[in-house]
Amino acid sequence: MALDDDDKPRILSPGAIHESVRRRYAQVAHDPRGQFPYPVGRESALGLGYPPGFIDRIPTFVVERFVGVGNPFSLGPPEPGQTVVDIGAGAGFDSQVAALMVGPDGRVRGVDLSDEMLDVARRGRDACGLANIEFLSGSAESLPVESGWTDLVITNGVLNLAACKTAAFAEIARVLRPGGWLRGVDLVLVEELPADLRRDEFAWSS
Ligand SMILES: C[S@@+](CC[C@H](N)C(=O)[O-])C[C@H]1O[C@@H](n2cnc3c(N)ncnc32)[C@H](O)[C@@H]1O
Repeated sequence: MALDDDDKPRILSPGAIHESVRRRYAQVAHDPRGQFPYPVGRESALGLGYPPGFIDRIPTFVVERFVGVGNPFSLGPPEPGQTVVDIGAGAGFDSQVAALMVGPDGRVRGVDLSDEMLDVARRGRDACGLANIEFLSGSAESLPVESGWTDLVITNGVLNLAACKTAAFAEIARVLRPGGWLRGVDLVLVEELPADLRRDEFAWSS
């Protein structure tokens, strides 16, 4: 039996979804206010249990652009000296928290699709003088990280936006060292999406 449009799970291509995400997060990098239906910034970070001592060490313009949906460190912090990959690092708030946790002997790589968010993240890193973070342009579905490089993958509010979730999880498995950890927080569906939302470019980037 042929499927009509309403029955197709997705009609946007992965490239179109990535473009939509890039457009939307260029705006968020410019001004995050009023862009999300959930709390963002410092109040959100405090409510999610990030220690004030860490938040206070991160530049205000980065904290204001924290738009995560949870706290991946509540699942366990990295150890000093470890490596961490932050998928969908955004303005780099979680990457900076991870860099403070792993210390100067550890390394953090934050990856994001949006050049504008990466710009903010790099400015924030430089303002803090954290030499152990790199911010790299790339996608969750094709991470610019060597196989087996990392002890820990964190991700915060990103995999729900990934155009191909199977590819994203395969990439996470590839970059983790044997015995490494994924600690991710995200939005999950509890029921089938209506057909019009599955076709909505904005919804794929929100
Ligand atoms: C909701 S924001 C979360 C940002 C950051 N993790 C935080 O907690 O503030 C989602 C971020 O993921 C990025 N993103 C979305 N889809 C992506 C993908 N497929 N690959 C890499 N980054 C992606 C967006 O550009 C955006 O910066």
